[in-house]
Amino acid sequence: MSGVGKIAVLGAGNIGGTLAQRLAEADLAQELVLLDIVEGLPQGKALDIQESAPVLGFATRVTGSTSLDALSGADIVIETAGLARKPGMSRSDLLGKNAEILKAHARAVRDHAPNAVVLVVTNPVDVMAYWFREVSGLPAARVFGQSGSLDTARFRWFVADELHVTPKDVIGFVLGTHGDTMVPILSLTSVNGVPVPKLIPRERLEQIVARTKSGGGEIVNLLKMGSAYYAPTASQAELVRAVAHDEHRLLPVTTRLHGEYGLRDLYLGVPARIGRGGIERIYEVELTAEERAAFEASAAAVREDLKILGGLPTS
Ligand code: 2OP
Repeated sequence: MSGVGKIAVLGAGNIGGTLAQRLAEADLAQELVLLDIVEGLPQGKALDIQESAPVLGFATRVTGSTSLDALSGADIVIETAGLARKPGMSRSDLLGKNAEILKAHARAVRDHAPNAVVLVVTNPVDVMAYWFREVSGLPAARVFGQSGSLDTARFRWFVADELHVTPKDVIGFVLGTHGDTMVPILSLTSVNGVPVPKLIPRERLEQIVARTKSGGGEIVNLLKMGSAYYAPTASQAELVRAVAHDEHRLLPVTTRLHGEYGLRDLYLGVPARIGRGGIERIYEVELTAEERAAFEASAAAVREDLKILGGLPTS
């Protein structure tokens, strides 16, 4: 088995549990530990996943724990803990409470798994990834967040459904924040190279863009409690695999900008190359004037949330 020695998943809710299942089944690590504060929950889900190994044939050893010491020596950590949205809430409404939860986790990673690559999933993700990096003190390249890869998956599905083409042939990028101001980049959206704006009338495409932007909210409203976890964990597993197998994938993620796109000191969704060390390179793609304006509005929305975070102590 290739991959890494140990993966830790923080949070054993719908996201954490489903992600642990996907990662174990993909045999990405020798050991996978699922953590949560609710006694019995991570142990129960881990054992349940482990007992599927004889049927599914994976070798990963899956355990559960309520102690943050269990992070010890993890090569990859996925932060899924925190509150999820209820109908009518925006991702930003979760900020204060989730920042508190992540603070303890970021310190534990700093102390027990300082060499880990960390994927942050907790919302509002652009702000939480920034916060996790600040508190943990890990290099920015080793802390990034899932954002555009999920939004892009939704966008690709809506386009595929509209055109009756197989979803994997739809290529696209959704950049900016994982929030209401995300920016689907139509100039980079194609069906295996055939530009989508030539295949779908503008008005219809605008409806698809609008649906993509509220894609997470659409699921929240349908479920009425909790938010999406099948599509999110599929995208997360793709990112974890890129790290575990050093794949050098070019995917949209939220990462710290150091002057790219004229922005710095914030996390925002951009195309990046991902491998064993985390973020290997950030790509600056050409945006139309309209996309550029939307991208900047996205940055402004994240900065508003960062102001709230600015009042919270990191230590
Ligand atoms: C979503 O978009 C949970 O933010 C996540 O579904």
